[in-house]
Amino acid sequence: VKYVAEPFKIKMVEPLKMTTREYREEKLKAANYNVFGLDSDDVYIDLLTDSGTGAMSDTQWAGIMTGDESYAGARSYRRLLKAAQDIFNYKYAQPVHQGRAAEQVLLPCLLKKGQKCISNMHFDTTRGHVGLIGARAVDIVVPEAKDTQTYMPFKGNMDVPRLEAYINEVGAENVGLIIMTITNNSAGGQPVSMANMKATKAVADKYGITMIIDAARYAENAYFIKQREEGYADVEIIDIVREMFSYADAFTMSAKKDAIVNMGGLIGIKDSEELYTKVKGWTIPYEGFVTYGGLAGRDLEALAIGLYEGLDKDYLRYRIGQVEYLGGRLMEEGIAFQYPVGGHAVFLDAKALLPHIPYNEFPGQALACELYLEAGIRSCDIGSYLLDLDPETGEQLQSEMEFTRLAIPRRVYTQAHFDVVVEALINIKKRAHEITGYKILWQPPVLRHFTAKLEPI
Ligand code: F0G
Repeated sequence: VKYVAEPFKIKMVEPLKMTTREYREEKLKAANYNVFGLDSDDVYIDLLTDSGTGAMSDTQWAGIMTGDESYAGARSYRRLLKAAQDIFNYKYAQPVHQGRAAEQVLLPCLLKKGQKCISNMHFDTTRGHVGLIGARAVDIVVPEAKDTQTYMPFKGNMDVPRLEAYINEVGAENVGLIIMTITNNSAGGQPVSMANMKATKAVADKYGITMIIDAARYAENAYFIKQREEGYADVEIIDIVREMFSYADAFTMSAKKDAIVNMGGLIGIKDSEELYTKVKGWTIPYEGFVTYGGLAGRDLEALAIGLYEGLDKDYLRYRIGQVEYLGGRLMEEGIAFQYPVGGHAVFLDAKALLPHIPYNEFPGQALACELYLEAGIRSCDIGSYLLDLDPETGEQLQSEMEFTRLAIPRRVYTQAHFDVVVEALINIKKRAHEITGYKILWQPPVLRHFTAKLEPI
């Protein structure tokens, strides 16, 4: 696999601390074997998330200086609206402070208590907001998403026949909303095809159900369509984006991913003035006045610029190429992961690497700890450890997949950093049989993975 050289040069650097294994052993123990408890200063390569961790360009930093900090009617707000209207071809846009804020404002406008909300896969915060409304989140992803070893170009797709069957089973009036998550983060950053978005929207229209997009990684999804779907090789990324968004009525976006800002979010509404009026109404008490939506003027400015930078085809080629490089090197070494790699991350198959660790001793978490001890790399478990206990029985739930996610920040790390990751995994593989599982000493009732205290067995 060839590394795609960076389409930029480095103008500013942030020094990293080099640490020893003994030092990391001490720090991990002090963090109760929970990677969220580590100080970032003690991390060498931070692959915990690609959210808000990207590097802004010099143009974005220049925008930070020219941002208009007026409370109402700011120039930066108008600039952001213009960019959003141009890119998505929607009439209305509303800035908010991050993706889950977009969910908090928009979802209650569309979904009622007792209804079902169907997605190819809900992201955790989306599922949380659906639950807060008193509605039920249902995931209907294609079954191939669970086969980690077979190539399929669009493992993030909605299972359209199953979607329609489900709507008929529960009754269309009980389905409040369909959410298409692009790319499908929980399935490993896997893309959704244009044909699938179109078919899903056709089902939504047939039954009169509103469809929205969770657009956190929409640009990466568009790039995959250009690469993999017939008929799109010569279509510009921005035109692919416009077509994708034509198959929805609204979107929520965490701009901390593909729009390459450290903080920001966006709601888009295709043409419903009624919905836009409701969204403005809830934005004010939750996020602040309509023309800043929980962000500083400089953030709005950086976001307006970042939306376009995230669509640049040379940038996307490098970005996806970087993740593919890491996946390709791991494949050469016989280290299993969700294949093909997604847009923003490599999801290591911890069950395959540590087959002797049962699900209730958390192989994904054990691998995350091991990566930190080995080379100061921070990743996270996306497996049984992430799943909370069964609320009814109090038993540990078993995840179908035991992943350790290596999420790649945008424009931050170089080829040599990825080689460090590969080397660390080669070393871990050699002594895999010696690695033990973990037990939980203390956990909070919900979202335990952020704060639980663990101990090696
Ligand atoms: N939707 C998706 C698909 C996401 O991946 C995220 C965040 C959100 C919504 C929420 O956005 O964080 O700006 O409030 N994902 C991050 C991650 C946190 O690490 O995957 P937010």
